[in-house]
Amino acid sequence: MKVLICDATDQKALQVIEDAGIEVVNQPDITPEELIKLIPDFPCMVVRSRTKVTKEVIQAGTALKAIVRAGVGVDNIDVAYAKEKGVQVLNTPGASTQSVAELTIAYLMALARNIPQMTASMKAGQWEKKRFVGDEVGGKTLGLIGSGRIGRAVAEKAQALGMEVIAYDPYLSDLPGIRLVDLEDLFQEADYISLHIPHTTETHNILDSAAFAKMKSGVRIINCARGGTIDEDALIKAIEDGKVAGAALDVYAQEPLTDPRLFALEGVIGSPHVGAGTAEGKQRVGLETAQQVIKVLKG
Ligand SMILES: NC(=O)c1ccc[n+]([C@@H]2O[C@H](COP(=O)([O-])OP(=O)(O)OC[C@H]3O[C@@H](n4cnc5c(N)ncnc54)[C@H](O)[C@@H]3O)[C@@H](O)[C@H]2O)c1
Repeated sequence: MKVLICDATDQKALQVIEDAGIEVVNQPDITPEELIKLIPDFPCMVVRSRTKVTKEVIQAGTALKAIVRAGVGVDNIDVAYAKEKGVQVLNTPGASTQSVAELTIAYLMALARNIPQMTASMKAGQWEKKRFVGDEVGGKTLGLIGSGRIGRAVAEKAQALGMEVIAYDPYLSDLPGIRLVDLEDLFQEADYISLHIPHTTETHNILDSAAFAKMKSGVRIINCARGGTIDEDALIKAIEDGKVAGAALDVYAQEPLTDPRLFALEGVIGSPHVGAGTAEGKQRVGLETAQQVIKVLKG
């Protein structure tokens, strides 16, 4: 009984799997070619986001019973083909909720008070009190696009900061404490818009030039969800035109991000897809991953 670990995974989680009597083959830097060669021997594999589980990988995985994604999104796995082949696709949906929600709130405050820009100015030896006049978030409206686990955790924290929270989520009919609105109303009312949706054909470029045109002037955008949900060319234009006052991005259409245009803009702040990257979040993801592997292999 063995499992192939394809991306860097919490050491404690690997220990938990081994303690359950399962052989761990740890290949955190495995290449696509090596994976095709190794996979026929494994009933279970673990991936984060680096390894792409393509149709070819699943075809080669003749003994494969389950693919465990250590994280939330399964967009690096050909889920439809896995299903066709009877291979289970499992993930750790709740493990990073708190970490991503906290990063979103950190960005909300950083955008309101220009914290990264002020820090850069201080590091350059400046003392620019007049240049950096911030805004309070209390009394402002936060519009959530998608209000599942992370969206709701963000809502709770934003309400504690005195914000009004509205949400667009066509798959929910009722959301206690949050006013559900349609997308047009959200664009018109929100001072801050934060995305908490998966990237699907429906949500692809949900924020495009037409959407930016409908928003309040001076709106600020946060994306700690998935790349591909914002048309980045349209965002750049909306910032250059002054329509969007700032954007905080953790995720990008292309990752790693190589296009220098977004971060050349003063109003853009961000991080390299680290929403789940906290000590506690990683541990929780690791532990839930270990539990999934043990369940699959030992029943
Ligand atoms: N930045 C990171 O490192 C990081 C870490 C974890 C999760 N995420 C991402 O955050 C996102 C949200 O995660 P979650 O755990 O809250 O997921 P979730 O499934 O609990 O919530 C997603 C919500 O989006 C809604 N939704 C789906 N299609 C929609 C549409 N067209 N318009 C509006 N709403 C729509 C769903 O109804 C659901 O309520 C996911 O994309 C996930 O991959 C990012």
